Amino acid sequence: MKILVLAGDGIGAEVTEQAVRVVQAVAGAEPGFELAHAPIGADALEAYGDPLPAHTLALARKAEAILFGSVGVPGDEEIPYEKRPGASLLRLRKDLDLFANFRPAFLFPELIGASTLKREVVEGLDIMILRELTGDLYFGEPRGFDTTADGVARAFNTMVYTEPEIERIAHVAFRLARTRRRKVCSVDKANVLEVMQLWRKVVARVGEAYPDVELTHQFVDAAVMQLMRAPKQFDVMVMGNVFGDIVSDAAAMLTGSIGMLPSASFALGRKGLYEPVHGTAPDIAGRNLANPLAAILSAAMMMRHSFDRADLADRIERAVGQALASGYRTGDIMQPGMKQVGTREMGDAVLEALAAGG
Ligand code: IPM
Ligand code: MG
Repeated sequence: MKILVLAGDGIGAEVTEQAVRVVQAVAGAEPGFELAHAPIGADALEAYGDPLPAHTLALARKAEAILFGSVGVPGDEEIPYEKRPGASLLRLRKDLDLFANFRPAFLFPELIGASTLKREVVEGLDIMILRELTGDLYFGEPRGFDTTADGVARAFNTMVYTEPEIERIAHVAFRLARTRRRKVCSVDKANVLEVMQLWRKVVARVGEAYPDVELTHQFVDAAVMQLMRAPKQFDVMVMGNVFGDIVSDAAAMLTGSIGMLPSASFALGRKGLYEPVHGTAPDIAGRNLANPLAAILSAAMMMRHSFDRADLADRIERAVGQALASGYRTGDIMQPGMKQVGTREMGDAVLEALAAGG
């Protein structure tokens, strides 16, 4: 187990610290266990003049799994792309070709009351959003700012997908559905955008090779409406990079808090980058307020997917459930009658549950 920890900016450092404690508790004694830390984001920019320094990238290429916190500082979109802390994650995704991003939205039974939606709408929710992560508006060329012939300021990005890019994410979606409830909903905007017409055509064609999986298509606006109205109709939802960014935050809210949701990103093979879906939350950073459970659950995904250790993943997930059942809550999921704790104390509660659960 060669794990690289990239804690990053904002609450990334705090929540990752708790995830590392949990990883050490369940796997520290495994043969070949190795944990390395490397700088990324604002600190790396300050120390090395690059938010994704060459030695960090080299370690990331060699690692079997990466445990990632969050990057970015307020207002950093003013900084050029290559120096922008928040863009270091985008560069890492692209460099490692992490095209398949798994964003589960599930609900711990203890948190049903924390959702803003009615109990019967979200009870038993278990959706997997599969977001394409290395294409689309995020990386399409040309992009930039210019001025029209009449001197009007203009900015532009390019939404683009190639057939092979759509094919490979579609295959991941159908294979994933076979391990779940065998339903794929492909989300697009084929009624308006050419690139999404190609998306729909290619997903439908790939789907013919998986006759045991039910394929539906929804436009992204309707899909978000359905997510709020009747989210349990969905199993796997597959979509491009931009729609996946937006829809996954919306789906996260169904579960009570984005502070609960892990994610995993893969190229071809087992190597993965594991990160909480939430960002740096600068308003609460450094104050022991952040919910570390998304980071801890990301570590569980790492055990399951990169190291084939479902046993350790199950232990971590059970311990998180136990900490919640014991009434511990960070501020984002606080409910009347529960015990409000900080980041570190929530980590303690999970470690305690691990020790008790064996
Ligand atoms: C996410 C985040 C990132 C994204 C940002 C931090 C660049 O919002 O992982 O969803 O837009 O992909
Ligand atoms: Mg996002």
